[in-house]
Amino acid sequence: MKSIAFGTLKGGTGKTTSCFNLAGALALNPNNRILLVDGDPQCNLTNDIGLDCSDMDRNNIRTIFENKKIDPSELIIHGIMNELPNIDIIPSNILLIKTEMQLVSIAGREKLLANYFERNKDFFSQYTHIIFDTNPNLGVVNQNIFYFVNSIILVSDVSLNAIQGAELFTFLWEENIEDLGVENNIKALVINNYDKRINLAKDLKDYYLSEDEFKDILIDTPIPDSVAMKDTSINHLPIVVLQPGHKAASAVKRVANELIEREVF
Ligand SMILES: Nc1ncnc2c1ncn2[C@@H]1O[C@H](COP(=O)(O)OP(=O)(O)O)[C@@H](O)[C@H]1O
Ligand SMILES: [Mg+2]
Repeated sequence: MKSIAFGTLKGGTGKTTSCFNLAGALALNPNNRILLVDGDPQCNLTNDIGLDCSDMDRNNIRTIFENKKIDPSELIIHGIMNELPNIDIIPSNILLIKTEMQLVSIAGREKLLANYFERNKDFFSQYTHIIFDTNPNLGVVNQNIFYFVNSIILVSDVSLNAIQGAELFTFLWEENIEDLGVENNIKALVINNYDKRINLAKDLKDYYLSEDEFKDILIDTPIPDSVAMKDTSINHLPIVVLQPGHKAASAVKRVANELIEREVF
């Protein structure tokens, strides 16, 4: 079982889109069993997969923090996408924002999620991959996610703000893990929304390759800026199923393969 989280400190770079679509590419291998976990109170991943996140009665990631004893089978929604029945999800909920406030005074608050997965590891080991989406902050809920996972994948689009977001994330997380006593788990940097007509496009890659913290983790294939990628959200299906012949689908599969080669996936 590998655990992975998508993150950075800029919104709109394509964390959720990359998470959803790369999980789709992984799920083409029927030997893989994937659990998506939506860690963003905006619930974009939950919506992308086709669930309504304002449903207050359904268990969600928040339940893990509220009820440590909850049986993991009660959290999971199975096979929403008929085309990819090997993807399950723990959805998010708009009230996750409240969890953030409730956790601030609890001892060992950054490790609650890791403890839950450890206690239930027999159950979770049925999955080959547990993949978290996050929002752009380093609040307590996200700290729990980034502390738990084996690998963090940074997502950058082609903009100076995205470079700043990746650098800030790296700087702050490195400070954090010193305090938490764990190894640096930032293992990959994916460029999304790539359009070579943007002046910055080539310089962006060169810049990342010139920086010590990024040069060894940059994924060579970028995910192109494409309407087909946008459509995955509306159609509740990853591009590898929605438009398998599209060039963006080939790029997503290549990125997934690079992540497999690097043992992130
Ligand atoms: N490769 C892409 N091509 C075109 N549009 C994209 C691509 N990746 C993301 N988008 C669009 O950009 C917006 C932000 O993407 P999203 O994945 O929600 O970012 P984040 O999760 O980092 O905030 C969404 O409207 C999404 O559909
Ligand atoms: Mg998002």
